[in-house]
Amino acid sequence: MCGIVGYLGSAEASPIVLEGLRKLEYRGYDSAGIATISDGGIRMLRAQGKLVNLEQRLKEQPLIGTRAIGHTRWATHGRPSEINAHPHKAGQIVVVHNGIIENYLELKQMLQHKGHNFSSDTDTEIIAHLIEEHFKQGGGFELAVRHALNEVRGAYAIAVLCEAEPDLLIAAKHGSPLVVGRGADEYFVASDIPAMLAHTRQMIFLEDGEMVIFAPQGLRFCDLAGTTLEKEEKTITWSPLMAEKGGYKHFMLKEIYEQPRAIADTIAGRLRENEGDIYLGDLKLNTQQLAGFEKIFIVACGTSWHAALVGKFYLEKLCRIPVEVDIASEFRYRDPIVNAKTLILVISQSGETADTLAALREAHGKGGKVLCICNVVDSSIARESDGVIYTHAGPEIGVASTKAFTTQLVALLLFALRLGRARNSLSADECRQKMQALVTLPRLLESCLELDGAIEKIARELSAARDFLYLGRGNQYPIALEGALKLKEISYIHAEGYPAGEMKHGPIALIDEQLPVVVIVPDNATFDKVVSNMEEVRARGGRVIVVTSGQGCRLETACESLFCLPEADDDLMPILTSIPMQLLAYHVAVYKGTDVDQPRNLAKSVTVE
Ligand code: M6R
Repeated sequence: MCGIVGYLGSAEASPIVLEGLRKLEYRGYDSAGIATISDGGIRMLRAQGKLVNLEQRLKEQPLIGTRAIGHTRWATHGRPSEINAHPHKAGQIVVVHNGIIENYLELKQMLQHKGHNFSSDTDTEIIAHLIEEHFKQGGGFELAVRHALNEVRGAYAIAVLCEAEPDLLIAAKHGSPLVVGRGADEYFVASDIPAMLAHTRQMIFLEDGEMVIFAPQGLRFCDLAGTTLEKEEKTITWSPLMAEKGGYKHFMLKEIYEQPRAIADTIAGRLRENEGDIYLGDLKLNTQQLAGFEKIFIVACGTSWHAALVGKFYLEKLCRIPVEVDIASEFRYRDPIVNAKTLILVISQSGETADTLAALREAHGKGGKVLCICNVVDSSIARESDGVIYTHAGPEIGVASTKAFTTQLVALLLFALRLGRARNSLSADECRQKMQALVTLPRLLESCLELDGAIEKIARELSAARDFLYLGRGNQYPIALEGALKLKEISYIHAEGYPAGEMKHGPIALIDEQLPVVVIVPDNATFDKVVSNMEEVRARGGRVIVVTSGQGCRLETACESLFCLPEADDDLMPILTSIPMQLLAYHVAVYKGTDVDQPRNLAKSVTVE
């Protein structure tokens, strides 16, 4: 996730674009840049790090021009550095981009054969060169952009300037957000509304496959075939703070709703349908090395540790390799048995968690190979690992992890498929079946999110409870732990997650008419067993809230509330059942009036041991 801003009008453009970027820093902040265009051509400034670094550069070398594009970056391809910062320029063309180009490797090879030289590691630079290549063939700037966009695969929102046609600014989108703002004799384009709210409330929302051509005399919208489109203008009434949260009351809710997109981005470009295999670009381990491991440790903290527990199910089932899961702060002090044939998979959203970093160093010190699953490019954990699988969740602002967790589960499943293929424990056809299931995930998550209203309804009454119990079995036990952690983190209600079958060995003593028990019981091999555990709760007067699928949707009369999820491959079910856990915790916390995005005593990144 990155932020882009464009301006075309009669005022000096760079301060307006810089101000807009400031409102989009929540979308990423590892580097930033601006390009302006004037009679003297394109001028560009870029800086690594937060926007203040770019601001400082602009003070020293102001950029003149009444048309500009700018970018604040969240690295996906290529580490955060000035060279990888946007805008990217090729010949007469300069581009800013938010999204991921899936076929960038093949396009890069094609362009290199035609003599293009690349200076960054980004997928975005390919777009600039591709437009430049078409521009050289004649037909003009607009046609060159359309031709180029018809060749790229993946997600993009772009804004483009062309030295030869300095009056124009062109923007387009597919899969990443883009909004146009219309002021009095000036125009704006941005990834999100807050970037423009200080100047206009008149907005036009672009749909996928649409393009807008800004010129001093007005706007024109068209599709990628060039057909002109009529677009409706809307008046935005949000306050600036509401706008930063995309209209959601809290970042956490916004991030819960971002999950279909975040998961689609995490899968994008990684499924190799023809080969029946998974492509993980930064893994840095070949098939022979992968096949040589005899044991895996997965090490993490908090929510990432819950992802690790689900990962054990994926890896043992699909790769037939023994897996041990450790809490990072425990791992380093128990003298774990690690050697060159041991793979240590560390998981961390932030990539800065001190306990996880210490565990990583301990594993390296003992001669193990370390891979990490991480959401932040070039973070300490990413840098010190031998290879990385990045989740593409985008920045997570809410302290309670949501989209980072479900994208970790997706990354774990992708890795299990790759390792399974490397070890021959999985055939190409079996891998293809899982890939087909994976591509349905964003749509399945959309229907899980439809439960939001019904979950909010039960949350008010449940917010009065003093304790909660969460039960799950197999790959749903970690989701019971995660549901309990989400609730206690943001609502301050005591909650425990338990394996459903273990309840009778102790926690059953807690059950009375006051205790809400959330039972996660998808329609799978242990369905009947978990239903029996649920009956044990009912028999003692407990308040049963069921999250289920398939035949479980008939349990309505056997519980206080029931949430029915779509049916899916059992490996995907933990990702689906996570959604009602997040929504329940969120709504209970809202009723309790706690600080949802910044709960007491917690920090987003725990950098002390
Ligand atoms: O950045 P990390 O994934 O390494 O963070 C680990 C935990 O601190 C984190 O998951 C924490 O438990 C979350 N706040 C849970 O919502």
